[in-house]
Amino acid sequence: MTKLSPAFLALVATFGMSELAGAADAAKGEMMARRWCAACHVVAPDQTSGNTQAPPFSAIAGKPGFDAAQLALFLLVPHPQMPDMGFSRNEAADLAAYIASQK
Ligand code: HEC
Repeated sequence: MTKLSPAFLALVATFGMSELAGAADAAKGEMMARRWCAACHVVAPDQTSGNTQAPPFSAIAGKPGFDAAQLALFLLVPHPQMPDMGFSRNEAADLAAYIASQK
């Protein structure tokens, strides 16, 4: 049996555990953001323009008191001018994790 490096085991422990806990997946959130939010919001640094009324995700993440858990709850309720996306809790958490990463 090959010996696994401690770093690898630590990685498995971290990601394996968070998977079990249903932790948010920012990569999934990014795919959703590009698909559902980019029409209005600037969702990533490589996006040049959005709807002028919608704050860029980097600005949302940079707000004082920003909290990803609160944001996930907010996303379960459609905001003004935003169509109801009907996200599940997990999807909302993925999106919130992605937005948090845009700070
Ligand atoms: C049809 C346009 C539109 C789409 C699509 C849209 N938004 Fe928005 N969003 C807005 C506008 C406009 C505002 C500002 C509303 C206001 O200030 O009342 C806003 C505000 C927000 C805010 C609150 C910002 C703050 O702190 O005040 C968040 C968070 C947000 N949007 C996330 C999202 C996410 C995530 C998606 C994709 C799932 C999305 N939006 C899709 C138009 C949109």
